Amino acid sequence: MFITFEGIDGSGKSTQARLLAENLRTLDHTVVLTREPGGTELGERVRDLLFGLDGRHWDPTEQALLHYAARSIHLRKVIRPELRKGNIVISDRFHDSSWAYQWGAGNIRKDLLSTLDSHVLGGTVPDMTILLDLDPEECPGRLTYRLPEDGNHFDHRSPLWFQGVREAYLERARLHSERFYIVDASQSIEVVADTILHMVREKIDEQC
Ligand code: TMP
Repeated sequence: MFITFEGIDGSGKSTQARLLAENLRTLDHTVVLTREPGGTELGERVRDLLFGLDGRHWDPTEQALLHYAARSIHLRKVIRPELRKGNIVISDRFHDSSWAYQWGAGNIRKDLLSTLDSHVLGGTVPDMTILLDLDPEECPGRLTYRLPEDGNHFDHRSPLWFQGVREAYLERARLHSERFYIVDASQSIEVVADTILHMVREKIDEQC
């Protein structure tokens, strides 16, 4: 089973991906927890290219190309081999992030992303995508405004900019309702974790 976590920065996705991995391991599942951009040594280097001090120079099309290069090697070296072994793969972000950020907020062309998906994913799509939904207008304090001194160029991103990301996620969820599970991320960490574990166990039971 291939499970992805999605959501705007500050939605708690990394915490929830980790908690799900821990909970499934206590139920005796073999789980590989990975992330994008990243997940491989080269993928982590692409992450540094994107978010390092010079990262602000990439335009949204260039960002998408870098994300898909990292995604391609991530699929080839980690995701597909682990799925073939029968393990559960949990990825903190995957291709829906490119749709939400580079298309939803960056306005790149949909047909570029469709083409990249068909070439790079080659049919490896998540069985479940857990979208941690959060209204950026209601909780701007949770958004990530990392300053350039911290090696990140994201300080210009406003709640309005994140609203574009959120809307794109919700549109993806409507289009791919068979795999999207929307969870209200404004609830406590424990409630969100319990809700997700329940959904995933149901899905695992369905597949058995
Ligand atoms: P995070 O790992 O702390 O969530 O940060 C990753 C950032 O990268 C986040 O702002 C979303 C962004 N991103 C994209 O813009 N496109 C992508 O395809 C992916 C995977 C991430």
